[in-house]
Amino acid sequence: MKRLLFFISILTIASLSTACTMTGKKKDEIKVGVIASLKGDQASFGQSNWSGVKMAFDEINARGDLGKKIVVYVEDDRSKAEEGATAAKKLVEQTGVHAIIGEVASSISLAAAPIAQKNKVPMISPASTNPAVTKVGTYIFRVCFIDPFQGEAMARFAKNQLKSKRAAIITDIKNDYSVGLAKFFKDTFTKTGGEVVADVSYSAGDIDFKAQLTAIRTKNPDVIFIPGYYTEVGLIARQARELGLKQPLLGGDGWDSPKTVEIGGAAIENSYFSTHYSPEDANPRVQEFIKRYKEHFGTVPDAMAVLGYDAAYVLADAIKRAGGVDSEKLRDAIAETKNFPGISGSITIDQDRNAQKPLVVLKIENGQYKFVDSVM
Ligand code: PHE
Repeated sequence: MKRLLFFISILTIASLSTACTMTGKKKDEIKVGVIASLKGDQASFGQSNWSGVKMAFDEINARGDLGKKIVVYVEDDRSKAEEGATAAKKLVEQTGVHAIIGEVASSISLAAAPIAQKNKVPMISPASTNPAVTKVGTYIFRVCFIDPFQGEAMARFAKNQLKSKRAAIITDIKNDYSVGLAKFFKDTFTKTGGEVVADVSYSAGDIDFKAQLTAIRTKNPDVIFIPGYYTEVGLIARQARELGLKQPLLGGDGWDSPKTVEIGGAAIENSYFSTHYSPEDANPRVQEFIKRYKEHFGTVPDAMAVLGYDAAYVLADAIKRAGGVDSEKLRDAIAETKNFPGISGSITIDQDRNAQKPLVVLKIENGQYKFVDSVM
């Protein structure tokens, strides 16, 4: 009996001490989860974003800005919404993260956000622009502008700068971002006296767009708006040119990847898209960032990398102001973010947990993204 009691007490001590080291560990570390598309159709987005996030946290840890170490747990959702939800569950329930950065694609953020919200884990999307994302709840934020702004800006650009009266739209109906952006473009274009003469669709993963493009050709539009992601955008551009369509092609931030010109080649030349930052921005902070990023990764950062970097810094700044990672305090601190000097512009979180920021319109010229205009 004595031996049994002794054994039990040893076991209790053992389990207590593991509990202590576990909570002790949790206290010394700040756990941040990252949900990113490291593989799959949107891998360019996920990888750029992860590079930006990682660079930011490495800098923050090296300087010891928060007094504690930030440990980052990245989960690959392979560009799939269901896997984004699985990743969020794992980060929240198993890893026990204090905050999440992600996702970039609106459809994946929409799948992951309800899990963060339910568990009161603050989530900051670097780049999801669909309005519904932050409406999921009070713990869900973003550091980018939203699609009503982007859609309106491109519709005005088409009308005022390109003098177009007739637009065609080709939408990815499997993509919440694409469906939303198509609608917002159409709203402004028609409200300002333009006409949408063809409104056709495809599904992400399609490779043949000839039927839709032929339908567009019969309507002879002045401009073609393609609110999709880089893979399909590149293919659509090529097939449009093959079918003899010479109109300017327009798009949104889903074009912002080096892959767009890689896939689109000559067919995508002289097209325009709206996005979050221009590498030509003369601001010395931006240029200094580009230089450091190039040293790390050997490429010029795209918008996704910049927004990942900014999201990580906004989170770190909020953790500092909150005095730690208490869930409610951290949520409130993120909500109170004001004039934070991001690389993608000054970030103020508004009452809808979005960031109102200017956009830039870029033109594809000789395979480069050239600054054309900025819209406040
Ligand atoms: N805004 C896109 C979305 O919501 C994602 C994206 C952002 C893509 C920035 C490229 C650059 O799905």
